[in-house]
Amino acid sequence: MASTATHILGIETSCDETAAAVVRRNADGSGTMLSNVVRSQLKEHAPYGGVVPEIAARAHVTVLDRLIAQAMAEAGLAFKDLDGIAATAGPGLLGGVIVGLTTAKAIALAEGKPLLAVNHLEGHALTPRLLEPCAFPYLLLLISGGHTQFQVVEGVGRYRRLGSTIDDALGEAFDKVAKLVGLGYPGGPQVEIAARNGNPVRFDFPRPLKGRRDCNFSFSGLKTAVREAVIGLHTLTPRDVADVCASFEAAVADTMRDRLARAMEAFREMHPDAVSPALIVAGGVAANATLKSVFAQSAADHGFRLIVPPAALCTDNGAMIAWAGAERLALGLVDDLSVAARARWPLDATQAPVYGAGKLGAKA
Ligand code: KG4
Ligand code: ZN
Repeated sequence: MASTATHILGIETSCDETAAAVVRRNADGSGTMLSNVVRSQLKEHAPYGGVVPEIAARAHVTVLDRLIAQAMAEAGLAFKDLDGIAATAGPGLLGGVIVGLTTAKAIALAEGKPLLAVNHLEGHALTPRLLEPCAFPYLLLLISGGHTQFQVVEGVGRYRRLGSTIDDALGEAFDKVAKLVGLGYPGGPQVEIAARNGNPVRFDFPRPLKGRRDCNFSFSGLKTAVREAVIGLHTLTPRDVADVCASFEAAVADTMRDRLARAMEAFREMHPDAVSPALIVAGGVAANATLKSVFAQSAADHGFRLIVPPAALCTDNGAMIAWAGAERLALGLVDDLSVAARARWPLDATQAPVYGAGKLGAKA
C-alpha cells in the first residue's frame, strides 16, 4: 500500500466524451478531485442519431492535448509532479481508445512515469470511493448507453458479474424509443421530459424477464412493443408521445424494481455478513428521476445504502479513470507500455492483455 499521497492524470476516450482529470489519492486512501475536464461530442454525432466511431476517434485526436493541458493547469501540476498516467484501455470504440491510451503511453514514456491501463467499467465501479468512504463489498448497477449490468465489487480488480443485458443496453432502449416517437438524440433525457405529462398506464408494455431467478436484463422486446404501439397510432399527437414515453418509463421502472430485488438477494447470498452494503448506480440513465426513486425505494426495502454519484461523475469522465488508476497504483498494479487497447473487456477479467497475446477483441 502506498503510504504517501499520489497524483494521477486520467484520460477517457472510449465513447463520445473526451475527458481528462487529475485526482489525488491521499495517504489515508481517500480521494480528492483536482480537476475534471470533459468535452462531449454530442454535436458531431447528433445529425446521425448515434455515435459514429470514425468521427469519435477524429474528434478525440483534435481536442485531447488541449484538454489534458487544461486538466493539468486546473490542478496546478506539471507532468513531473504526477505519480502515474491512467487511460481507458477498453472496452469501447477501438479508434477512440487507441487515441487516449497512446497519448497516455507517450506521456508515461517521456516522463518516466508508470502507466495504468484502466478498464472503463472499473472506473465506474470504483468512483464512489473517490467521493466518500465505501467499504468492499458493494453492489454496482451500471446503466449507460453501452452497458447494463450488475457487478459485485469485492475489491480493486475483483469483480463478479451477477447479470447483464442479453440484448440492448438500457440507455440504448431509451434512445431507440425516442427515435420511434420522433424525439432527438440522445433520447433518454427527452423521453424523461415527455413522460412527465403522460399517462403511464395507457399502454401495457411488457416487463422483460420479470420474476426470473437470474439477474439479467432484456430490452429489445419492450422496444418492439413500443414500435408496434407507435405503428398502430399512425400519426402521433403530443399526447400520444407523452403517453408512450410514460408507459415505457413505467415498464422500465417495474423491470428495474424486480431485477434490483433479485440482485440484492443474490448479493446477500454471496455476502451474508455485509452490514448495510452500498448499492451504487452509475451511467447516464442513473440521471432519470423516476428510476432514481425506484432505486431509493428498492435499496431501503433491502437494507442497502444507495449512492448515485453526481451526474458529472456518473456519466463518462476522466476522474473515474484517474481514480481507478490511483487505486491500482496503490496496489502496485501498473501496466507495461505494450498493453493493448481492447474493444471488449469484461470487468471480471481486469488484467489488461499485451499485444500479441492472441485474444484481442475476444467477445465479452
Ligand atoms: O453513461 P453515458 O453518459 O454514456 C455512455 O453510454 O457511455 O450514458 C448515455 C446514455 C444515453 O443512452 C442517454 O439516452 C441515457 O444515458 N440517459 C438517460 C437520461 N440521461 C441520459 N436515460 C434516461 N433518462 C435520463 N434522464
Ligand atoms: Zn461509461
